[in-house]
Amino acid sequence: MKTFYIKTFGCQMNVYDGQRIDAMLRARGLTPTDDVSVADLIVLNTCAVREKASNKVFSELGRIRDHKKPDALFGIVGCVAKEEGANSFRRIPELNFVLGPQSYHKLPEILENPDARLLNVDLSGLEKFDSLPPVSESSVLAYIPIQEGCDHCCTYCIVPFTRGREISRPFDDVMNDVYAATENGAVEICFLGQNVNGYKNSLAKLITETAKLPTIRRIRFTSSYPTEMSDDLIEMFATQPKLLPFLNMPIQSGSPNVLTRMNRPYLLDLYLNIIDRLRAARPDIQISSDFIVGFPGETDSDFQQTMEIARRVKYINSYSFKYSPRPHTGAALMPGQVPENIKKQRLAALDGLLTEINREFNESCIGKTMACLIEGPDKTGKYLLARSPYMQQVIIPNESSDKIQNIEITAANKCSLRGKVLKN
Ligand code: SAH
Ligand code: F3S
Repeated sequence: MKTFYIKTFGCQMNVYDGQRIDAMLRARGLTPTDDVSVADLIVLNTCAVREKASNKVFSELGRIRDHKKPDALFGIVGCVAKEEGANSFRRIPELNFVLGPQSYHKLPEILENPDARLLNVDLSGLEKFDSLPPVSESSVLAYIPIQEGCDHCCTYCIVPFTRGREISRPFDDVMNDVYAATENGAVEICFLGQNVNGYKNSLAKLITETAKLPTIRRIRFTSSYPTEMSDDLIEMFATQPKLLPFLNMPIQSGSPNVLTRMNRPYLLDLYLNIIDRLRAARPDIQISSDFIVGFPGETDSDFQQTMEIARRVKYINSYSFKYSPRPHTGAALMPGQVPENIKKQRLAALDGLLTEINREFNESCIGKTMACLIEGPDKTGKYLLARSPYMQQVIIPNESSDKIQNIEITAANKCSLRGKVLKN
């Protein structure tokens, strides 16, 4: 029996792609292994959003080359494969395959023809969805992509290059994935897209249809682009109790000048007005964001505006990154690249602020009861790890068997909560 090893880097979309590759290889009779030195097929499912992540892939490939079985096949799929294309073979000549995020369904071709080099970084749109076996593993939480690619073309971002133009999956195809996930035990659905609220076949309608399924208890979606937050979607937060009171809507920067150069042409007033409307629809809603610090030309005062907006919105569970120049993007060529030490300082300041806001919010949850998704035992087996409606980690004694539990929060720190299960 042949074995495969797969390692996934990066975003939720990649996690989904990794699950599909796993299911595809199992369907071909291969069995998974965690040990790269015994695997017959080794797949790195890669992320190219920042340079560090991209470089990590090649250093890891170098290590794998030295430790794998001599006849094992190895290669990369995902965004680094698209970013580097044929150049990947120049960097690691022994590589067997390089497949982009829209062509990894071609992977079995390398099993049939192991002596050839397989290179396919075509943007084949939705083809992969139609040519893969469905995810069969049971899971309480199902990530379901509803769109591929992105049309926004933020000047720092490589995703429109690696994942191509934005395409929405047909409504019925998505619903079929929802039904399949339900049959596999899912109680929570998370719809995925780079610009998920720009889904052309109505995200509000998807949420409404999904919420009709009695076994589905929680629904969410990520990641949202500010100007695509339509009225009917905002209304969902008021009318659809299964939709979690949590929204990832990245602002990236609080400076209008920087936003213009990022090609994110929304006004801060408009952004804040959307948040006001969301809070009017759902008073307990919390917002999370991604931030980039040290974008070309960012001054100290631009950065202070980012700090200011973070304080004002009180974002929770947010991510901040140092700007990283990427190939195929306009910002990499812009003047005014910010020195590394300044990026570092700004990142530390922003991270410090976001951590403080998180801690305050976490502490405000003490004494509250929340319906949490039980994800599984921790490493010791003594505790269960659960996920609150705001995506906080909640640690509870390991004595519950339901998939969703009402948990009273008893303690909090900056990164997690503790709680006890309330008997239903
Ligand atoms: N809409 C996407 C964003 C993909 S990239 C989503 O679904 O999450 C994820 C985040 O990485 C972005 O929001 C941005 O904050 C960050 N990012 C993208 N390109 C970057 C770059 N060149 N340098 C630093 N951070 C970057
Ligand atoms: Fe990237 Fe901007 Fe799209 S961050 S994924 S180009 S919305």
